[in-house]
Amino acid sequence: MSRKLLIAIVVLVAAMFIGASLMAADPEKPTKTTGKPDTTATKAVAKFNYVGKDKCKLCHMKDEYGSWLTTAHAKAWEALKPEEQKKDSCVVCHSTGKDAAGVLLTGVQCEACHGPGSAYKTQANMKDKKLAMNAGMIEPTKEVCVKCHNDKSPNFKGFDFDKYSKDPKGMHKTFPKKTEEKKG
Ligand code: HEC
Ligand code: HEC
Ligand code: HEC
Ligand code: HEC
Repeated sequence: MSRKLLIAIVVLVAAMFIGASLMAADPEKPTKTTGKPDTTATKAVAKFNYVGKDKCKLCHMKDEYGSWLTTAHAKAWEALKPEEQKKDSCVVCHSTGKDAAGVLLTGVQCEACHGPGSAYKTQANMKDKKLAMNAGMIEPTKEVCVKCHNDKSPNFKGFDFDKYSKDPKGMHKTFPKKTEEKKG
């Protein structure tokens, strides 16, 4: 099996775990009082916190951050009217980290797709993809997108990953890697 394929499978499984646990967490109900043992997936999410786009901007300013600013994702919070910004039923897909760590960041920020960054954002982790992914970084696949791009959205226009993931209205530019990926 090729290394790329193996990585893809690992990412997919991780994304499914995180997706499932996000769906399980109802923001309106306290989860602490269920009395049931935590699932592994819930723990995996709880381990990492959202740090917000300004942290990512520190190092990704010139490249991804600048082009992300021009996407619909960067403006997703402003698409809501003030009264809609108070409704969980709208906020959940127009913000980042609402139902995992209980932190609310406005708009569809970096971590909505790449996972909460408290652990992977360090220089040492970021330079080694394997370390970064162990620290919670996600290489987004379709599973990440369809948490929001689904028919629960009142404005759902359908979702085709191949098309949408190349559409500059939603995707930041990706740039050639500056450091060599660790071969192992
Ligand atoms: C399940 C996730 C989800 C929920 C819940 C959700 N949205 Fe959205 N919203 C989206 C997505 C994804 C898009 C992008 C449209 C597309 O390509 O399907 C969008 C687009 C929009 C737009 C841009 C206009 C357009 O037609 O593209 C507005 C305005 C909007 N949503 C308002 C709301 C309001 C108001 C609510 C609450 C009543 C809400 N959304 C709830 C995911 C969601
Ligand atoms: C809507 C989801 C989404 C958001 C939001 C998003 N990204 Fe990405 N990002 C992606 C996808 C998809 C890829 C491509 C992954 C791949 O090719 O394996 C990617 C790739 C990357 C890469 C790797 C580029 C390369 O050369 O391979 C970096 C770095 C990155 N994103 C940083 C960011 C930063 C910083 C932000 C916030 C400013 C951000 N992303 C916001 C989806 C997103
Ligand atoms: C946290 C929720 C969320 C996630 C995750 C997410 N999106 Fe979105 N996406 C939105 C919302 C909300 C909008 C509409 C924002 C607006 O119009 O103001 C949108 C808009 C878009 C648009 C522009 C659509 C249009 O017609 O204007 C594209 C393209 C897109 N997303 C692609 C993706 C891809 C590809 C992924 C996964 C790599 C992804 N999105 C992940 C919520 C999300
Ligand atoms: C201390 C600087 C720094 C911070 C802060 C940082 N990054 Fe990075 N990031 C890097 C470096 C360096 C690379 C490797 C770049 C390369 O190879 O071109 C990288 C790579 C990435 C990649 C691509 C990984 C790969 O190998 O495919 C993604 C995705 C990414 N960062 C997302 C983020 C997100 C999201 C945040 C905020 C939560 C963030 N980064 C914060 C320095 C940083």
